[in-house]
Amino acid sequence: MAPSIAAEPMVFGLSRYVLLPFLVIGIVVGRLIYVALTCPTRHIPGPWYTRFTHLRLKRAVVTGQRIFYIDSLHKKYGPIVRLSPNEVGVSDLSAFREIHKIGTKYLKSDWYGRLANFPKHGIFTMIDPKEHGMRRKLLSRSFSKSYLVDNWEYVVRDKAQLCVEKIKGDAMRSSADVYNWWMLLASDVTTHLSFGEPFGMLQTGKANQFMRVLKKLTMGAGIMVEMPFLRLLRFVPITSIQEMFNCNEYILRGADRAVEMARTRTGENNVFAKVIEDCEKEGEGHIEDMDVRIEAMNVIIAGTDTTGVTLTYLTWAVLQRPELQAALEAEAATLKDDFKEKDVIELPLLNAIIEETLRLYGAAPSSLPRTVPQGGSKLGGHYIPSGTTVSTQAYTFHRDANIWSDPLSFNPYRWLSADKGGTAEALSRDAKSAFHPFGVGARSCVGVHLARMEMRYAVAFFFRECSGMRLAQRTTPETMQFENFFLIAPKAHACHVTFAKQ
Ligand code: HEM
Repeated sequence: MAPSIAAEPMVFGLSRYVLLPFLVIGIVVGRLIYVALTCPTRHIPGPWYTRFTHLRLKRAVVTGQRIFYIDSLHKKYGPIVRLSPNEVGVSDLSAFREIHKIGTKYLKSDWYGRLANFPKHGIFTMIDPKEHGMRRKLLSRSFSKSYLVDNWEYVVRDKAQLCVEKIKGDAMRSSADVYNWWMLLASDVTTHLSFGEPFGMLQTGKANQFMRVLKKLTMGAGIMVEMPFLRLLRFVPITSIQEMFNCNEYILRGADRAVEMARTRTGENNVFAKVIEDCEKEGEGHIEDMDVRIEAMNVIIAGTDTTGVTLTYLTWAVLQRPELQAALEAEAATLKDDFKEKDVIELPLLNAIIEETLRLYGAAPSSLPRTVPQGGSKLGGHYIPSGTTVSTQAYTFHRDANIWSDPLSFNPYRWLSADKGGTAEALSRDAKSAFHPFGVGARSCVGVHLARMEMRYAVAFFFRECSGMRLAQRTTPETMQFENFFLIAPKAHACHVTFAKQ
């Protein structure tokens, strides 16, 4: 006898298999309508889909297009624009001042904490202003202008000189990749400062294993902050993948050396020995070994690609402009053989070129996300509820035609006063407060003096020693296009220069 088949339950005369998809679609649509109607930023201008989802923004982030996407939204929707249900882009100057002023209640958003995957917070990720203020005070002394001049200037100078010798050597043989060399310069400086001993990467011409893994780790962290489920990749038994998603322990173990050198006061100069000493001397609390490890990594991560990329774009921008290059070479040629940073500070064009590079090609032009405080706030005429992330990006402020004339053109003369052949546009109040390549307020860059010292030496040596250098043919506007993963970098991760006629 054939088995009996139970009659299928029917609703409104339809089988449940037919109904199920309608039910799912109904729930999804209902949920979307609910989200759109209750979206806390629904009254703010922005694309309709940003009321429902952050997926479009995420796509821009993971494809390295975030700054361009946000900039395009500002152009279309104005200075206050909804980027996702709980993130708002801000390019209004008075709102920017309000968000980042000293003593601000707009604190760093939890994005920073999710970005750094270390067991404790360090200076970069601390949110609480009191905790951050104490740490900042400790580190600021070791990165102050006077401390750097007294203790580190000759190290920075020697490394910049060696780096330029290496570039010159490669360029004379065939071509030199200045992206690689400026990166090595910046990593040799930050690792020497953090570890109290040189890593010697400029000598070998390549990053050591520690730096290679650290770089992958920061790349992995940038991806995981957007897609946390990728943390599971740490279980994939492939070294290159594990280096990206599971190498914190390796890095923190490597950083033990920084602790050892600091605690034993080894080495002529030691930034963290000074940090520990200051901490103990002034009774400002105890700094644990883990704090030293994490801050050493922060200095290396925050101080390497930033300086290396900015120098790369400076070289590229100047070599595209033969007249400017000749004027800079002539100025650098006036330096004596034993010139110091104080002599370079006296060179108007060189410093104006650094400023103009920082305006258009500073390596950190992305959103600096902050959280709207309790009670919400009114920015640029719009109410923004508490807890919303507000993001300001230097990329947009540094290209605002209301602030800069001919904003897209690379014109160092805008930084020079009339008696030096310039237009001194930077003296305008708006330009001054909109210009923030090193961040702004209490969370601005602690390494600014170090970065400026490195850039001054590097540029002075390069244009003094490498007269007549030109861009190699394989370096083009396409290869130099920005890719934006918090920092920017040239798409090709290379920038070749040569002495050869092409
Ligand atoms: C041209 C080079 C550099 C650029 C463009 C740059 C840019 C920035 C920016 C924009 C910020 C603010 C980040 C934010 O608010 O989210 C920042 C913070 C920071 N930078 Fe730099 N930086 C550079 C070089 C350096 C160097 C050489 C160091 C090494 C000490 C360094 C260490 C730091 C640290 C520790 C912070 C966090 C400060 C805090 O939150 O109190 N940076 N930097």
